[in-house]
Amino acid sequence: MATPSSLLLFIASLLHLLQWILEKSQATRLAQRLLLWVLAAGPIPQHVAFVMDGNRRYARSKGKIVQEGHGDGYMALRRVLEICLRLNVRCVSVYAFAIDNFKRSPDEVEALMYLAESKLLELCAHGNLLQEYDVRLNVIGRTELFPEYVQKAVVKAEGMTRKNNRSILNVCMPYSSRDEMTAAVESSIREALEKGDNDLSTIENITEDTINSHLMSVQRGSPPLDILVRTSGVKRLSDYMLWQASPVRSIMNHALRPVQCCENTQIHFNKTYWPDFGLFDFVPIILKWQRSVWFRQYEVSSRR
Ligand code: FPP
Ligand code: MG
Repeated sequence: MATPSSLLLFIASLLHLLQWILEKSQATRLAQRLLLWVLAAGPIPQHVAFVMDGNRRYARSKGKIVQEGHGDGYMALRRVLEICLRLNVRCVSVYAFAIDNFKRSPDEVEALMYLAESKLLELCAHGNLLQEYDVRLNVIGRTELFPEYVQKAVVKAEGMTRKNNRSILNVCMPYSSRDEMTAAVESSIREALEKGDNDLSTIENITEDTINSHLMSVQRGSPPLDILVRTSGVKRLSDYMLWQASPVRSIMNHALRPVQCCENTQIHFNKTYWPDFGLFDFVPIILKWQRSVWFRQYEVSSRR
């Protein structure tokens, strides 16, 4: 039977263990912050996009249900976003729901809708991540396809961060690149016809630059895309940021190259399932991008 003194000893050792765990986790946090601070002293990409893939395989590998996989995926989004914000990345885009994802089972679609509704509002709430780092939320895509309660949450969440302007978070849903490009072509034509009093020849004035400036992501302030990351080992773009990630330099004459389009998007396929993706997956990606910037700078200066 336990005596009062052995019970006290047990409680004291438990407290010591707790303190040790706390100190260790604080030390880890401090080391991570130091690492980000050092990285942020180098060149930093303006725009990083993520295809957050592998939530269901992650869930299966951990014996969890699919909904938990998506829930853990949301926690990873918070973690990765905070890393980007600490590095002073101006714009982060994430593929949260493809238009095609409506074809998944009704149960999974419903769970993703509830997740979107609650987590968008959570992210934007007073004192939460987007307010703390002065980030504006843009939901990019065909939001009219969402159930009404999600549409309301989107409008409310965007409104809560409307005045924030240090950084941008683009949550792309329900999104597809082809849809974004089609909408941009349509509105470019409409605008040309309006300006030219319906004279069809004005359509000839539409350039790549015109279409680029009509992309929803560009209209909402996104800079050119520097890095695109897809997790979970799948090597496809799955209709995400196809225009933004196109290497314009290889297909166009320099004199014709549009200013806004990106000429050097680095595409990274990472093996980690999205819910497990973190600092130690991201640091090598940033280092590789920094090396390419330094190399380009070196090339330019040695040509002079
Ligand atoms: C892809 O993995 C992931 C999704 C379709 C959903 C991603 C959504 C989140 C991470 C949360 C979003 C949060 C907000 C705020 C909207 P998958 O389902 O294709 O998994 P698999 O590749 O293993 O099948
Ligand atoms: Mg997938």
